[in-house]
Amino acid sequence: MNFDLSGPTPDAADDGVWLACIECGHTLAPFDDVIYRCPECGGLLEARYDEYPTFADFEGRGVWRYAAAMPVERGVTIREGDTPLYDVPRLEDEVGVRTLRIKHEGANPTGSFKDRGMTVGVRVARRLGVGRLACASTGNTSAALAAYGARAGMETLVLLPAGKVAAGKVAQASLHGARILEVDGNFDDCLDVVSELADRGEAYLLNSLNPFRLEGQKTIGLEILEQARDDYGRLPDRIVLPVGNAGNTAAIHKAFRELVAAGELDPDDVPTLTGVQAEDAAPFVEAVEEGRDRVRRWADVETRATAIRIGDPVNAPKALHAVRETGGTAVAVSDEAITAAQRDLAAAGVGVEPASAASVAGLRALRERGVVTDDEDVVCLTTGHLLKDPDAAAAAGGDPEPVPADVAGVLAALGD
Ligand code: F0G
Repeated sequence: MNFDLSGPTPDAADDGVWLACIECGHTLAPFDDVIYRCPECGGLLEARYDEYPTFADFEGRGVWRYAAAMPVERGVTIREGDTPLYDVPRLEDEVGVRTLRIKHEGANPTGSFKDRGMTVGVRVARRLGVGRLACASTGNTSAALAAYGARAGMETLVLLPAGKVAAGKVAQASLHGARILEVDGNFDDCLDVVSELADRGEAYLLNSLNPFRLEGQKTIGLEILEQARDDYGRLPDRIVLPVGNAGNTAAIHKAFRELVAAGELDPDDVPTLTGVQAEDAAPFVEAVEEGRDRVRRWADVETRATAIRIGDPVNAPKALHAVRETGGTAVAVSDEAITAAQRDLAAAGVGVEPASAASVAGLRALRERGVVTDDEDVVCLTTGHLLKDPDAAAAAGGDPEPVPADVAGVLAALGD
């Protein structure tokens, strides 16, 4: 594996940016060709730079505050990033950690963290001069791609697993004008098909296999560090996040590796990355538990948290390294535990979709097992907004009560 960020600048660099294979170290010019995997060995690619910025280089707000850490200049934006870090005192007491904060990515323009990746990915697509943009999606990626594609005036195509995408996400993709193909298969089948289309030059792929999208998503890690420092004067010990394709886990780790390379972060202070999956869709957890550096693809996956209903996490080689390198772990939780956490977050005023609540359910499970200790400063990442999946929210909440249109009838109902 090749995760060294501080190697020499290769001839392939363009304005101090290049792509490197995490498996064999092969380097490539970033913007000459459309490329998603290493042409030598098929390994995952990552963006590298001849210089890594320090906190002093960041200015402004949102994702583009971190322009100094990006491969392209500010592009297609709908003001993504700059999401809140909430305190949740009752939940913090109940879980029993030193501090618990919720980084709510549902506050992004399309309601999920995907916007951070799309603002960069669509900007790169423009630079490459590609035509149609495409992705496979469990929903949120398609909503973000549709919105950013619309903003850029580009054609967008999304492949969704039929019947397995939450209503809010399909509505977004539809209204923002994406061509939506419902595939008779699961997310992994959709990704197989769209990857092949991309390889044939039919579309530019904006799934998290695309290394530029992850450059946008790494700003979650940078924002968490800056906000925690402002909030309670320390860096968090641990970040707990849901894992689907494992792009976020890889991206947040990359943010920290870059700060270490810049001499801005002590390797011992890098927060521990902890991944959470639903128990019937947990190939990543299996690989962590078995100490493997590859995942075994699960053909059949199922969970109420449809956003993370994924059997073959494409970024696993990066994310397994991230978990191991930071001393983290991964844990599987039941759908019931996810819904309970969704209710508890809602009771604190934080409305999230089921996949997001998996982070809190996972923290709870690890605290019960003593893996997380009571002296830790923990940040849970909630990745998408409650309204993404209105059916799940309504099922987890109470039922409306019918009353007549008069005060006496309402008082009678309240008196029950
Ligand atoms: N949470 C939500 C709400 C998501 O939509 C996703 C992924 C994840 C967590 C997992 O993130 O893939 O970086 O590990 N959704 C993708 C999609 C797959 O198509 O919207 P990851």
